[in-house]
Amino acid sequence: MAYLRIPATDRVIDDADSIRSFLLPHGIHYDRWLVAGRIDRDASQEEILAAYAPEVTALMQSGGYSAADVVNVTPAVPNMQEMLNKFNQEHRHAEDEVRFIVKGHGIFYIHPENGGDVFSIELEEGDFINVPAGTKHWFDLCADRTIRAIRLFRDQAGWTPLYTGDAIASGYQPLCFGPNPMAVKGIKVEQAVSIAA
Ligand SMILES: [Fe+2]
Repeated sequence: MAYLRIPATDRVIDDADSIRSFLLPHGIHYDRWLVAGRIDRDASQEEILAAYAPEVTALMQSGGYSAADVVNVTPAVPNMQEMLNKFNQEHRHAEDEVRFIVKGHGIFYIHPENGGDVFSIELEEGDFINVPAGTKHWFDLCADRTIRAIRLFRDQAGWTPLYTGDAIASGYQPLCFGPNPMAVKGIKVEQAVSIAA
């Protein structure tokens, strides 16, 4: 279940319907797809894409996406911080950022164009999100430094980060506050954990 926070007002939204409703005016689509009982979180890319073929195919047709893959980030990935540094500064993309989380956690910060408060949305397994092209945002992993996600693309080149040059991200700590961001490792987290190296 996702976990949405608006730091300026200390507001938290943690039920799927309310998160969906909050995100819609921002053009962001949120949904929940089952994972447990449907696919092994460590299944191969091909098995994962096959398991979610109905949803992926429908999205490709409705959204004009031409490709799908599975990204797999673990703490063993070399140059992890270098990779994260590409995405933890405010940027836009020329195409939608479409993700379905099979395993692990990640956090998007969204900077609304309408001048509204910055908000974060933490994602975990079962969470689907579509952040539309042009949305100002930045992204980090949570303490488990693990994410496995289906990605959809129109053109992979369009997913290159286009930096805004705004240092706004530095005013927000890369923290995941969700109820149990280390759940995949069976570790109970008593307080927010920074992923900062
Ligand atoms: Fe991005």
